[in-house]
Amino acid sequence: EEPITIKGLSSATGIKTAQIIKFLFKQGVMATVNSAIGTEAAMEVAMEYDIELEVKELETAEEKVEKQFAEREKVDEQPRPPVVTVLGHVDHGKTSLLDRIRQADVAAHEDGGITQHVGAYRVSVEGNDGAKKTVVFLDTPGHEAFSTMRARGARMTDLVVLVVAADDGVMPTTIEAIAHAKAAEVPIIVALNKIDTPQATDENIRKIYGQLAEHGLNPTDWGGETEIIKTSATEGTGITELLEILDYQAELLELTADYGGPARGTVIEAEMQTGRGSVARVLVQDGQVKVGDFIVSGRAFGRVRDMINDRDQSVADAGPATPLELSGIDLVPDAGDKFFVTDSLKRAEEVALQYRETERQQTLASKTKVTLDNFADAV
Ligand code: GTP
Ligand code: MG
Repeated sequence: EEPITIKGLSSATGIKTAQIIKFLFKQGVMATVNSAIGTEAAMEVAMEYDIELEVKELETAEEKVEKQFAEREKVDEQPRPPVVTVLGHVDHGKTSLLDRIRQADVAAHEDGGITQHVGAYRVSVEGNDGAKKTVVFLDTPGHEAFSTMRARGARMTDLVVLVVAADDGVMPTTIEAIAHAKAAEVPIIVALNKIDTPQATDENIRKIYGQLAEHGLNPTDWGGETEIIKTSATEGTGITELLEILDYQAELLELTADYGGPARGTVIEAEMQTGRGSVARVLVQDGQVKVGDFIVSGRAFGRVRDMINDRDQSVADAGPATPLELSGIDLVPDAGDKFFVTDSLKRAEEVALQYRETERQQTLASKTKVTLDNFADAV
């Protein structure tokens, strides 16, 4: 699956290489028979000769890796806690609501009050039947610059809590969050927050309901499908109701995970730390991960050296629906990369090296177009 060369395009279409080179030259592109040709340029050449070209997208490095781990035998399937992502516009109260839920104060320790990273927390709450239930919450930043984090958060989640501040209404990030949740086909529950503020008048609330309905979230009060819970993170209003609705919605989904076998999950974020090396914050989704396990995640591989849970405790092993920070891998994987426990270090290395090679080829393919301008620079 190398990128296609002029020679390759020629033999696939029957157009002479000289003609392709001439065509590209007229467009200001210098090429030789062995030059790689981008998808768009190849399409243009084919169009010029009235040839229909079917372009197969190259498998991404990630897809290649995931395919190898797709066949996973289920060992011990059991019900699992839901993963709930909190989305919404900046400052609408996502972190404060989570703080209320956790009865802990994270927002106070954050730089400038903005959630810089996706925080992940495992919280025990009382379910509708009075029994203790576990819910995993993912906090996300509302800042415009963090769109990819929200997209990722929405993808690895079972339910979305969309926080809308009653004193501010539906904002650009709110609309974007709705789009992410819909794209991921995840049910949305709205927390109409800051209900304690003087701006939370009946008139304003009606206006916000209207805005939500316009974006496909028709409130149950209006005969629609979307639950809207009025909350105040500062006063604690509506928190129990929100948790009850989440519990109810999660039950409907009948979520399960495999509690046995080698672990797999998703990287929430990763970074290089002085003294600790590459550190990945992950969510375990299936199986068990232990200190000493061999692991591969995107371009990174290694052996799990230590694991820290969301309460800052060292743990030796962990199962599904557990957020963890782990170290022991050689490079920094991308947020959103899956991770897999393998049976040997060699296997983890093989998969990681294959990822790196695919990544290298794709960077190459996107760079090999030599135009007259940079050709002149090169000589
Ligand atoms: P980002 O992470 O920056 O997107 O913000 P966020 O959505 O996490 O909001 P955060 O919880 O940091 O709250 C922003 C501000 O709103 C803080 O000053 C909170 O004290 C305040 N706030 C949050 N919830 C409420 C509420 O229910 N009522 C009132 N009056 N203020 C609130
Ligand atoms: Mg926040």
